[in-house]
Amino acid sequence: MGALPDELAPALARAVGQADRACGREFWSGVWHQQPYVAVLSRIGKVAAASTAALLIQRHQVDAIVFTGVAGGLAHGVRVGDAVVATEFLQHDMDAAPLFARHVIPLDGISHFPSDPELSLRLERAARHAQAQMRAEWPLGWQGLDLSRSAIHTGLIISGDRFVSRASESQALRERLPDALAVEMEGAAVAQVCRDHGIPFAAVRLISDRADDHAHPDFLRLVTDLAAPFSTHLLDHLLHKNNH
Ligand code: ADE
Repeated sequence: MGALPDELAPALARAVGQADRACGREFWSGVWHQQPYVAVLSRIGKVAAASTAALLIQRHQVDAIVFTGVAGGLAHGVRVGDAVVATEFLQHDMDAAPLFARHVIPLDGISHFPSDPELSLRLERAARHAQAQMRAEWPLGWQGLDLSRSAIHTGLIISGDRFVSRASESQALRERLPDALAVEMEGAAVAQVCRDHGIPFAAVRLISDRADDHAHPDFLRLVTDLAAPFSTHLLDHLLHKNNH
């Protein structure tokens, strides 16, 4: 699953046919390294992504869901070109206080939704491979970005229905949620749906921007050039049976 066509380009390009169409979503099926998969664009935002995840699980009986895409870097040291593999997710805009503590999902009673540890470990290895391949493809770096310095981080990813594009807003998020490494708009919603269904879930995000005043142009530049090569190398490694 990915939110934008560039984020899912390789899985869509290799698909052999449209498996299904429902509620405005197109589900594409394919086989990669003898592994059958279904690719679908989540659309953007938590509700769209949750609805897509529920459809994917109920109509296609998937064993697991992996999300690949981009995110804004939040924590100091999480730079453009780095990748973040989630160990857990939280909705930063959930706030039912004073009925429930801030960020807690009412009735679920938790704020942090863990990713599947084994799948996340495989995803981390795949992300490492993807970064190495991209270094080889751009030995001199990409648009002034030294890819040899790009790192992989593991930790908390936060999601909300906002494209964070003001330094004041990302600073406020850092102060309120100091453990958060990156911010995006879907992961925590998909994690919650997967938990409801007992489906393992893991997600990786390439950092496209720093969720600051330059976020919009930075995001557009990186998505156009690097999102597709990153997910190509990532999925190529993840779906290879030798890498299980
Ligand atoms: N995805 C990529 N960059 C983002 C940002 N700054 N805010 C929310 N989602 C994002």
